[in-house]
Amino acid sequence: MSITYHVQSNVFQLDGKNSTYLIGVYDNRFLTSLYYGKKLEILNPSRLMVTRELGFSPSPHEDFYKRYVSLDTLPSECPSFGYGDFRIPAITIEQNDGSRCLDLRYAGYEILTKKPSIKGIPSLKEDDNCDTLKIILKDKLTKVEVNLYYNVYNDRDVITRHMIIRNKGDEKINITKAMSCSFDLRDNNFNLLQLIGCHCEERHIEVTPLRHGISKIESRRGSSSHMLNPFFALLRKDTTEDVGEVYGINLVYSGSYEGTIEVDQRHTTRVQMGISSFDFSWPLDVKESFETPEVVMVYSNGGLNGMSQQFHNLYNDCLLKKQYYHPIVVNNWEATYFGFDEEKLDKLISSAKGLGIETFVLDDGWFGKRNNDESSLGDWYVNKEKLPHGLEGVAEMCKKNGLKFGLWFEPEMISEDSDLYRAHPDYAIKIPNRPHLYSRCQLVLDLSRKEVCDYIIDAISKVVDKLDISYIKWDFNRNISETYSKQLTHKYVLGLYYVLETLTKKYPKIMIEGCSGGGGRFDPAMLYYTPQIWTSDDSDAIERLYIQYGTSLVYPPTTMVGHVSVTPNHQTGRVTPFKTRGIVAMSANFGYELNPQVLTEQEREMVKDQTKTYRNLKKVIYNSDFYRLRNPFGGKDCAWSFVRKDKKEVYVMYVRILNSATNEFDWLVLKGLDSKKIYVNVETNEKFSGSELMSAGILLPRHPYDFNGIMYHFKEDKE
Ligand code: DGJ
Repeated sequence: MSITYHVQSNVFQLDGKNSTYLIGVYDNRFLTSLYYGKKLEILNPSRLMVTRELGFSPSPHEDFYKRYVSLDTLPSECPSFGYGDFRIPAITIEQNDGSRCLDLRYAGYEILTKKPSIKGIPSLKEDDNCDTLKIILKDKLTKVEVNLYYNVYNDRDVITRHMIIRNKGDEKINITKAMSCSFDLRDNNFNLLQLIGCHCEERHIEVTPLRHGISKIESRRGSSSHMLNPFFALLRKDTTEDVGEVYGINLVYSGSYEGTIEVDQRHTTRVQMGISSFDFSWPLDVKESFETPEVVMVYSNGGLNGMSQQFHNLYNDCLLKKQYYHPIVVNNWEATYFGFDEEKLDKLISSAKGLGIETFVLDDGWFGKRNNDESSLGDWYVNKEKLPHGLEGVAEMCKKNGLKFGLWFEPEMISEDSDLYRAHPDYAIKIPNRPHLYSRCQLVLDLSRKEVCDYIIDAISKVVDKLDISYIKWDFNRNISETYSKQLTHKYVLGLYYVLETLTKKYPKIMIEGCSGGGGRFDPAMLYYTPQIWTSDDSDAIERLYIQYGTSLVYPPTTMVGHVSVTPNHQTGRVTPFKTRGIVAMSANFGYELNPQVLTEQEREMVKDQTKTYRNLKKVIYNSDFYRLRNPFGGKDCAWSFVRKDKKEVYVMYVRILNSATNEFDWLVLKGLDSKKIYVNVETNEKFSGSELMSAGILLPRHPYDFNGIMYHFKEDKE
């Protein structure tokens, strides 16, 4: 059992594989954070429960003589507002009389053997060894009850948390803040790592020293956003890729969120993550309850790579659905944009024949009268001018050339110039009496309304039912600006999950690739429904090094999508070798974003080679540990490797960014191999011991030009 209740000291001990989390009940009243870190055995846990007087920190009424008791100085697992704690609260409510005070007291616990699901929001499955602690807190006056859930994955260093707020009083209340987790760390000796970005530059790594006061990451956009991924990590100052303590926090949610860290006057650190409290208010009627999304907390004492592997293994085992086939695709977006017709598609599809490509994905522009991005979103019926034989005609072309068929939708959007808008202008999110805003000329459908969600399910079903389709690309190309109510963005996300839940149940074989102008909604909740996500609209191989490197901090490479596109690259104008483009794209779910017709004979041969290589590589990638070897941020190159779980096979991807004339000796040192095994380089037949590869490394060749990419494939030597 990984959850121990120390009766004498009133302390809960949550043990993971190498970590311990201690929660104390101070004086049988207040739920306090005691310890989170390296695994420990503790003789007297109550020793950790300390309070000391601090001027200007108020004491609860009953502690008049005990100035040392104050919620302002006690570390807390669920801080509320108005009862002495001046730091950020995890929960705030408003009562009918305007009071916002909540005095949450400990009222008991339960240990559950089954991990609870969360109403309307995806959450992680339990694994074979998972226990749940439920802690009950109550406010006597309002009769508001709070349940805190801690799911402990005993064989990992993972705790997931969420909170349920129940209105057990006799008056309606308004929830104005409800975090999925809150805990206090005992010091502030940390750097803060966050994944920053924008459209075409997602999930770049930024590390800054943690300062006093409040640091915050958030999205107010109605989606988890390109700008700041719903993830952050606190790193000890000396933490590196391979050693040192890291606390990684990731929210299983796709809408507006906030992650907040506050360093207080006593230099302790409060950590929170949850739905955004900005412009949020949720009325809770008598007997109603509100459930927050789940937050994933990973502890690593093995540096950043240790943290990433924890996230990767957890998401592979407990989040991502296994029933889907992830094909090698060719997508026509960068090949044609909106300018295609049957003849062009026929040529494109038939030129993909024999290259080892498995699926053709028809991107934007096949429906309504969509010849540019100004119209037709919502009109999910085929454009007969472009495709006189309908989608069936395209499906037939695919079949004839041995390819499966995939189709692009942007289901959550509506164009003003569409039949849908003419019939239902009210379906779009707008503010009454104000002219609405455009973003990419479009509006967002109001998924907080059931009839709008049902329209989407129906419209997609009508297309899919007529076709033998195996793949959908689900795009989302604007954010929600006109939030006409304080519930809208959360209700929207619940609507989105309802739509995705219904469609994925109805079509269990259709793999949905997520997309939001690339990686604008790359979060665990979307991954639950869309197990791979178009990682960025920037398909340039060099830019992708940074994007994929940053993304790999949290998300397994098998959730990313990488395509080889043409040069000069459409986003950057950069010219990179075909081989390098292949190596970078093959580090994710592999495909092509070009018209195979434009390939030279030599490139066609390279494509055949790449798809063949990828088929074997894929078996490794989907069953491997991922190691980052060279960091492109501030560096001259980038490298990572996939080490099969049994350590018998390894792929290493290396890309030199700008070349130099120095002809240096540059040794690439590998990680995660079996030091006792002998590995053979499959290309050269040269043999190395695992210990040599992990200590001396391999000598990189002299690079002939900028952007040189090299892939090494080692296998255990059987002789
Ligand atoms: C944005 C996506 O990221 C692109 O790949 C493409 O599907 C376009 N939308 C189509 O409008």
